[in-house]
Amino acid sequence: MNILVTGGAGFIGANFVYYELKNHPEDRIVCLDKLTYAGNLQTLDEALKQDNFRFVKGDIADRECVFKLFEEEKFDIVVNFAAESHVDRSVEDPGIFLKTNIIGTQTLMDAARKFGVRRYHQVSTDEVYGDLPLDRPDLFFTEETPIHTSSPYSASKASADLLVMAYARTFGLPVSITRCSNNYGPYHFPEKLIPLMISRALADESLPVYGKGENVRDWLYVEDHCSAIDLVIRKGKDGEIYNIGGHNERTNLQVVKTILKILGKDESLITYVTDRPGHDMRYAIDPTKIHNELGWLPETTFDEGIKKTVQWYLDNEPWWKNILEGDYQNYFERMYSGR
Ligand code: NAD
Ligand code: DAU
Repeated sequence: MNILVTGGAGFIGANFVYYELKNHPEDRIVCLDKLTYAGNLQTLDEALKQDNFRFVKGDIADRECVFKLFEEEKFDIVVNFAAESHVDRSVEDPGIFLKTNIIGTQTLMDAARKFGVRRYHQVSTDEVYGDLPLDRPDLFFTEETPIHTSSPYSASKASADLLVMAYARTFGLPVSITRCSNNYGPYHFPEKLIPLMISRALADESLPVYGKGENVRDWLYVEDHCSAIDLVIRKGKDGEIYNIGGHNERTNLQVVKTILKILGKDESLITYVTDRPGHDMRYAIDPTKIHNELGWLPETTFDEGIKKTVQWYLDNEPWWKNILEGDYQNYFERMYSGR
């Protein structure tokens, strides 16, 4: 099969490229990525050595580029990871989130309609469901939970999901959607909680925890997300939505303290900073549907995964130090100074 992976130079997309090349060497992978601040071609160095991998630099919202690529490649499957993905940046500047996450999705689906695909798969997020209260640990997001978004990022992802379902119903496009909880693991851009805390703790710099650090996220090791998407695109039903998560709920403070413990660093590095506007309290996925229908189960517990992740950052310092030395410094200054 010929598979288009958009956003494959980013965190989850790159992990998915490697997952596919390893587990389905008979397939061909084409990666379309704009190489925004979050995309990194070095991450794909090993993939670029393989004959069944092609990289194309381009914007998913650029119709000419997308249509040309679809015409050339005759894709069987499209997996759309490409997105603006950071909530804090969406608070600062929503416009690019609407363009990439909504118009980009429409453009890819228009091309999929015109040139025909066996499946268009949209990689979505549990953030489309809004948040759950901290005092109701019995509540989880199911596929029937109403869409109820908080940030421009989640609103753009929810809009894209609605458009995907509309294209299925109106045009009969064969689609699927997965909505996953927070990922962590190799190649995670250091603007996000876990890699930000690892990189700063290693430099003995302060660790900026928003609010009281009591918000809860449901962490999934990135390879488990990849295995779930792989199952859905090959065995999932057309028109279906699948939630992905592994019941690994932790408060942000627990996560940060775990990282400090693994690194042997002192908790005095923790600094409480002004909260994120509209900050969702708790995410928690009920993955019963994907388990019952497709037999998916995560393999990595949070305790194992976080140790593997810290070790990856220790072993791959040049990868993230290179990022920290670039534009990232301005970003950090803008977001955190005087906060
Ligand atoms: P990321 O920010 O690390 O990577 C995004 C990638 O998309 C980058 O390589 C970037 O260059 C590329 N990109 C951005 N705009 C583009 C455009 N217009 N055209 C082509 N490429 C473009 O993101 P991530 O964390 O890997 O997330 C990937 C997908 O998974 C996103 O759709 C996100 O909403 C979803 N998701 C993420 C998480 C998470 O915890 N990170 C959880 C659930 C769902
Ligand atoms: O749930 C899935 C979502 O997870 C994805 O859709 C998003 O693309 C992804 O970025 C992630 O969103 P979050 O906002 O949950 O992730 P982030 O790493 O930005 O923050 C995790 C938690 O940590 C959140 O409660 C905010 C808090 N935080 C984050 C940063 C960057 C801090 O306390 N300090 C920080 O410096």
